[in-house]
Order: sequence, then structure tokens, then C-alpha cells
Amino acid sequence: MKRTVELNPILSYKGTTKIFPSFVTGKQITTIGGVHYFYYRFLLGLIRFIFRYRLKAFGSSYKRHDTVPENKEVEKIYAREAKTYEYKHHLTTNFRDTWWRRQVGLEVMSYIRAHNKKSSTVNLLDIGTGIGLSMEEMFCVFKLFDIHVNAVGLDYNEKMLKEANSVILSRMKENSLLKKDVREIRFTRGDARNLTDGKDGSLEYFSKESFDVITIMFGIGGVDYPLEAIKEQLLVLKRDGILIVTDMHRPILELSEKWPWFIGSKYGAAFSAMAWEHATKPLALAMLWGWRDPSLVFYLSPLLSHYDEDKRVYYGFEQVSLSLNNEFWWFNVPVVPTAKIVLKKIEISKEEFKDKQEQLHNTTYLWN
Ligand SMILES: C[S@@+](CC[C@H](N)C(=O)[O-])C[C@H]1O[C@@H](n2cnc3c(N)ncnc32)[C@H](O)[C@@H]1O
Repeated sequence: MKRTVELNPILSYKGTTKIFPSFVTGKQITTIGGVHYFYYRFLLGLIRFIFRYRLKAFGSSYKRHDTVPENKEVEKIYAREAKTYEYKHHLTTNFRDTWWRRQVGLEVMSYIRAHNKKSSTVNLLDIGTGIGLSMEEMFCVFKLFDIHVNAVGLDYNEKMLKEANSVILSRMKENSLLKKDVREIRFTRGDARNLTDGKDGSLEYFSKESFDVITIMFGIGGVDYPLEAIKEQLLVLKRDGILIVTDMHRPILELSEKWPWFIGSKYGAAFSAMAWEHATKPLALAMLWGWRDPSLVFYLSPLLSHYDEDKRVYYGFEQVSLSLNNEFWWFNVPVVPTAKIVLKKIEISKEEFKDKQEQLHNTTYLWN
């Protein structure tokens, strides 16, 4: 007996122009044989058991968040996570996270080469920096390629920042990743949703066009208004500067992958859909981090734009690249697909500005 496995769309678009790929606006459907279905459910049950067991070893306060929590709840989650964040992140990603972070450092290096900035200092802002793990790995790459950087790690959560300042900063100094006037870093408190214009004295704000590079790694999925946050990033980015967003991405069933022998390729698409629905979304996203599926950010961010009244110039994003990845985790099972998008801030015409606004206006987000 065959069963159907489905993934719901994340966007609906009003109009005839086909600007989004079909796997984003339409239901993804695949079929699977009954025996395989139950076997996969068993495998995923095992993964859930191990995941939960590992989490329980760190505390019993994990619950599933069915909606994206507001900032107050996010604060609680990360206040709880701060002390164990590093080990838990390595364990739950089966130690693959280090490479995701280094990849972003390499992306910055490519930008520097492409824009001939080798001799100048790059101003970098890492948003939702947490305890600074990504900064540490990026700085390993910066040291390797002798890149001059002045970096700011920004987070809302004071406990995460405390860990960044006490643990990661000391380790970066010990490993000579920092060098006066060459590679510098500081961690600060701020809100990704409002980087430019606020009155809360405990948060830092920035002038428009302050940064050459902005990175946000595994952060945007937990922000309640992610597009507002990306729009703020467009403001503080310099012209020709780049924004690099890395996060989870739902599986694309048409790209059926080759899987390890104990899953097989015949029903690989069904397995990835089931893994996403039964393991990744409820455990890694909803339970560990209180997140939703961040995939839509990768398709909507290129449509964001703004008008600079002082300069009378329209700005928008040009998509430099979008890459998808699915690394092998426990038991060689790639259950957590990720994506990385690189966007460049460019000047756009009034017509392009209007076009982007209209496309956004015609889009409804179907959070799930
Ligand atoms: C999953 S952690 C990622 C940390 C880090 N980027 C990494 O890759 O290890 C998400 C971080 O985003 C921060 N965060 C959530 N909402 C935020 C907001 N509105 N402004 C700034 N940081 C925020 C949380 O406090 C948390 O430290």
C-alpha cells in the first residue's frame, strides 16, 4: 500500500508572474511504500529519542513552541542555553556546525578579493552572535588569509553575551586570533529588529551605511519579524556591502538525494520530508530554539528595498548566490538541510523599487 507524504507551501503569490520556485508556493508531494513508511517512522523515532535524551541530560525545561515566541520567551530560551550552548550545538549538529561557520568566513574572504579590499579594514557585524562561536570560526579564516577586520558581535541576550565576553573572547586571545588594529572584535547588546533608531539606553544602535559585511547565522529563524530585521540590515550596510544569511532550509523533494544504504534512494524524498516534519521542525526548531521554518527568508529578502531620503537614492539587494546543503548527522543521516544566501546592497532605479514593493505586496507568508 502506497502512502502520500506532503510538505505545505510557505508562500502564496497573487498574480501571474512566476517569481518564486514551485517548491515554495506549492505543496510538495511524494509517495512511499507502506513498509518503508513504517521503517522510516521507526528510524525517526529513534532519532527523536536520542535527541530528547541528549537534551534532557542538559535540563528538563524543553517544551515545544508551536508559534514563534515573542522576545521575552526568546530571552528565557537563551538565558537557559547560554552556559551549555557550545557543547549542545556541537552535539546536536554532530560537530558539523564548525564548518558552516567557517564557510561564512570564506565567503567574506571571497568578497574581499572580489572587491579589492585586501589592504583595507572590513567592518563586520554579526547579528544574533550568541556566545560568539561563529565569530571565533570566522576569525580562524581571517587569520589564515590575513584579513583585516573590525567586528561587532550583536545579541539581545545578556547571558549569551556574558559567555561571549568571558569564554570565547579569552579563547580567541589565547589562540592569537586577535591583533591590535588588524583583527579586532567586541560584543554588544542590540536588537536585530531595530538597529538604527531606538531609545533603549541598554541597546546599541548604528548609523546608516556602517558595515561592509553583515552575517547572521542560525539567528533569523528565531526573530519574530524576520523581514523587518533584514530591512534594518539593508540600512546599516554600506553600498556594495554584503549580507550573508545562513539557516535551516526545508527539503526540496524534487532534488531527490542519494542516501546511505539503510535509507536507500528509492524513497529518499519521502524520507527527507518525514525527517523535516517529524524530527527537525519539532525538535531542533520548535523545542530547542523556539523557531519556525526560516526558509521563506531566502526567497523574500532579495525583494526588500528602501529609499534614502537624504541621498535621494533607492537601494535594494542583488542576489550573489544561494547555496543549499544537507550534511550527514548521526548515523550518517542528513536530517538538517541548511541554506546560505549572499546578498549585495546595490543602488536600484525607481521602477525596480516599485516592482520589488509590488511583489512583496502580492505575497502572503504561510508560516508553518
Ligand atoms: C541559535 S542562536 C545563534 C547564535 C550564533 N549565531 C551561532 O551560530 O552560534 C540565536 C541567537 O539569536 C539571538 N537573538 C534572538 N532574537 C534576537 C534579536 N531580536 N536581536 C538580537 N539577537 C537576537 C539569541 O539571543 C541567540 O543568541
